[in-house]
Amino acid sequence: MTQSPRILQTIESHILDLQKLHPSASGDFTGLLNDITFAAKIVSREVTKAGLVDILGATGESNVQGEVVQKLDDYANAVFLKCLGTRGQVCIMGSEELADPIFNDAGPGSHNYIVIFDPLDGSSNIDANVSVGTIFGIWKRRSLLNKVGPTDLLQPGRQLVASGYVIYGSSTMFVYTAGHGVHGFTLDPSIGEFLLSHEHITTPFVGGIYSVNEGNEPKWTPEVRETVRQLKYGRDSAKGKGGKTSRYIGSLVADFHRNLLYGGVFLYPPTADKPGGKLRLMCEAAPLALVAENAGGYASDGHGPILDVVPDQLHMRVPLYIGSRDDVLWIEKMLGDKR
Ligand code: AHG
Ligand code: MN
Ligand code: MN
Repeated sequence: MTQSPRILQTIESHILDLQKLHPSASGDFTGLLNDITFAAKIVSREVTKAGLVDILGATGESNVQGEVVQKLDDYANAVFLKCLGTRGQVCIMGSEELADPIFNDAGPGSHNYIVIFDPLDGSSNIDANVSVGTIFGIWKRRSLLNKVGPTDLLQPGRQLVASGYVIYGSSTMFVYTAGHGVHGFTLDPSIGEFLLSHEHITTPFVGGIYSVNEGNEPKWTPEVRETVRQLKYGRDSAKGKGGKTSRYIGSLVADFHRNLLYGGVFLYPPTADKPGGKLRLMCEAAPLALVAENAGGYASDGHGPILDVVPDQLHMRVPLYIGSRDDVLWIEKMLGDKR
């Protein structure tokens, strides 16, 4: 159960406490995390007043994903690109909105981090004032003797040093893990600070919610259809009880965050038109999988841990089943291990 905070603490001081756990730390990681929280504050300011300024609606272009780019997608992308690694911490940046990663490497010894992010998740919901978010993952460079390359970029989630998300909702929250638990901070706009509000978030092993776009049912495999049926009606197994309740917002960050706190499972199965799944491994599934596992949950691609999937390209898509550990493990069993 998530603990209410013992002390009044800003995210900057929380990150500094983290640095003390690593005596040899240079402060680069601390600076990078603070750059991300700074960008989140700027995006939050725009999202909360989006209806008042000309930043809603579509740009009329589509991105590398083939999706219509919303103005706020573009804005958030520009803010994170501008704020990240301003003091030489980042050698590669990858964004859901950009076809190619941005390399900025001065060689070994500096620029030690790779950041992959989804600047604005849940774009289709922006104009309806529904919660949207940002998702990020931070990896360390592997090339210690020469300039960075594809092996530094295409790392599995298991190699993440930190990840998290921002949810721009009724309040703006910043949730992250660096391997020492999952912690949530709520933005107090009157002082411009993220304050610790959810210390050591843990998620129930079994939840009462399932989240899936039921409109895709005609495009699912029979195994997925049967799995969702049992989530709805209750498992046929002897210990099964009644089914779960359905909640689906259509913004991954919002669906994930609610299920993390309350207990539940989010599913984005493969469909006939998206056999590899819709969601992106590096900027959505893997960062959230690290958060889920550090909160006692689990994330699977239907066969095994999301965190062990090695990306073959920056925008690789995966099926995603994520949330309460026992629910996801049961789904994995239902879908069978057809490796
Ligand atoms: P993004 O806005 O970054 O493209 O992400 C949208 C994703 C995710 O947020 C959400 O869970 C999913 O798309 C919803 O997809 P459907 O509308 O197909 O259900
Ligand atoms: Mn997204
Ligand atoms: Mn996005």
